[in-house]
Amino acid sequence: MCYSLAVGDESIEPRIINGSIAKVAETKHLVSIRLRKNDKNFGTGHICGGSLIGNNKVLTAAHCLYNTSKKRYRKANEFVVVMGTLNRYERTKNTIVSDVSSIAYMNTFGTDSMRDDVGVMFLRTGLPPNSTHPTVAPIEMATQVTPVGATCQVSGWGRTEENTLSNVLLSANVSLIRWRTCRSIYGSGLLDGMICAGRLRGGTDSCQGDSGGPLVYADRVIGVVSWGYGCAEPGLPGVYADVQYYHQWIEERSAGFSALQLQQRWLWLWLGLGSILWATLAF
Ligand code: ARG
Repeated sequence: MCYSLAVGDESIEPRIINGSIAKVAETKHLVSIRLRKNDKNFGTGHICGGSLIGNNKVLTAAHCLYNTSKKRYRKANEFVVVMGTLNRYERTKNTIVSDVSSIAYMNTFGTDSMRDDVGVMFLRTGLPPNSTHPTVAPIEMATQVTPVGATCQVSGWGRTEENTLSNVLLSANVSLIRWRTCRSIYGSGLLDGMICAGRLRGGTDSCQGDSGGPLVYADRVIGVVSWGYGCAEPGLPGVYADVQYYHQWIEERSAGFSALQLQQRWLWLWLGLGSILWATLAF
C-alpha cells in the first residue's frame, strides 16, 4: 500500500497513515506474483498482486503479464506464484509456491490507455482440491454493482514510501467513488470497465507493486489494482479494473481454452507454411 505524508505536517518525519498489517482471515486469496529470475532470494521477485479465484486460477492485471521494455507479453514460465504467508520473504509449511501453466489477457489491453487491464493465470499446482487450507482460500468475484461510497479493502505488498515494497501484506480501507466524479478527475483517461476508489482528501491508496491485487467488498473481489496518478495524492484516487464488468470474460477463461488458442496458433502456422509451399510450387 502507499501512504502519503500527513497533510500539513511540516516535520520531515514520514508518517504512515491509515494502513495496517493484513489479517490472514481476510486475505487468504492474496497471491504474490513473481518473476522467477528475480526470486532466487525468496520474496525479491515480487512484481504484482493477484487473487485466487479458483484452486488453480488467479485474477490479476493484464499489465502485470506484460514486459514493457520488450513490448511483449511474458511467457507463463517466467512467473512463479506464492500464497499462504503474509511476509513475502517467509516460506513456511503453509506457503504454496506454484508454477504457471498458462496466462490469458484481452487483446484489447493497451499500456497507454490501460484499457481492459485484466488477466488470468492458470497454476500448475495451486491449492490442492477438496482441502481446507489454514491460510489459502479462493475468493468469489462480484457479479453485482457495488454501491458508491462503499468501504472496500485493498491489500498488497506494494510501495509504502518513496521506493520500498512492503515485506508484510498491508491492507487499507478505501471508498468507492462515483464513476462520473472520477471521470471529471481523470477525463477521457477513465474508460468503461474502470472504477475508482480512495479518499478524495488523499492519504490512503494502493501503489506500485499492488497492481493486480484485489479490491474487496462484502467478501467478493470487485476490482483489480490498475493505475493512478501518483499514489494517495489528494483528489487523485486509485483506478481499478471493474471485476463485475469483466466477470463473463474472466469466468469463461479456463485452462482448456488457452490450450485451444495454442492449437489455433499451430493451425495458422501450418496454413501459412502450406500456402508458402503452394505458392513456390505454383510459380
Ligand atoms: N500500476 C501500479 C502497479 O503496477 C499500481 C498503481 C496504483 N496506483 C494508485 N494510485 N492506486 O503496481
